[in-house]
Amino acid sequence: MENIIESIKKDLENVINLSDLNELKVKYLGKKGIITELQQQIKDLDVEQKKEFGIKLNEIRTLFNDLFSVKQEIFETALINLKLQQESIDISLPETVVKTGSKHPMTRIQEQFEDLFVSMGYTVYDGPEIETDENCFQKLNLCKGHPARDAQDTFYLENEVENYLLRSQTSTAQVRAMEENIEKGPLKIVCPGKVYRRDEDATHSHQFAQIEGLVIDENISMADLKGTLELFLKKFLGEKTEVRFRPSFFPFTEPSVEVDVTCFKCGGKGCSLCKQTGWIEVLGAGMVHPNVLEMSGYDSNKYQAFAFGTGMDRFAMFKYGITDIRTIYGNDIRFLNQFNRRDED
Ligand code: DAH
Repeated sequence: MENIIESIKKDLENVINLSDLNELKVKYLGKKGIITELQQQIKDLDVEQKKEFGIKLNEIRTLFNDLFSVKQEIFETALINLKLQQESIDISLPETVVKTGSKHPMTRIQEQFEDLFVSMGYTVYDGPEIETDENCFQKLNLCKGHPARDAQDTFYLENEVENYLLRSQTSTAQVRAMEENIEKGPLKIVCPGKVYRRDEDATHSHQFAQIEGLVIDENISMADLKGTLELFLKKFLGEKTEVRFRPSFFPFTEPSVEVDVTCFKCGGKGCSLCKQTGWIEVLGAGMVHPNVLEMSGYDSNKYQAFAFGTGMDRFAMFKYGITDIRTIYGNDIRFLNQFNRRDED
């Protein structure tokens, strides 16, 4: 036994790595290990010897385990340190510049519109850009051949089953939202999105963005419409902005109004932007025509509604000083880089 103690001490002193250390465990405590085999001899001894032998054997086992743990810890710590050293990062190296994108000016404007209307209790409703003639025109009181369709000449898609087109106005969302509302009860939505028309000059693009609003409830009047639009326009364009309502015509509203604001550029004095009038037209709106409510299943005796629609591009042009609407959709990196600011406005 004394020899064994010596050999344990020597082995554990000379061991140089973790795997050799583990082999020593097999050598002494494995199935056929030295200590294990001694253990098996106990049964052949008499009672007195058993006791003495047992105590000694335990001492040997404890000695092995203690020395083993000490070495194990040394090797494991060394391994961890090595790993830490290998994985360390040299923070003095110059950074690799990550190119970050930025929000498109129209995304910014749309988010500002959404935030404002959501704060007034509206839900944002999303409608498809490919629409049926029925939703884009007929259910908005513009039957086939109606002269008011001319102002919204759009792109038709060839299809034998349905008369599909690229929507020319977000007013189509009114129809979809009303039809989807099974209870035919109160509704308060805004629908921002792209619309398409056959137009192209500095202030018209074949693709542009509108936002539509629709509020349906009992006892809704023109006063609600006026209050809502005044609040929205002053919040968006500045408290000093004056708002003017002019009688107008839209097939889907009765009465209808067009809404002007004091010129963003000259503040109402008269300049080239407002063609010396001091006013700029920004919105179409009105009380939803009873026919429109009825066509989508609403009881027009019980419910009234107001609606409004406006071009979001014009607000972006004003806010960011953009002079040609076509640059908004041109994807020219020199234009987009000008909006490369992380702070939100
Ligand atoms: N859809 C109209 C357009 O594109 C704008 C409009 C006018 C929307 C009156 C409305 C409204 O909801 O009531 O010219």
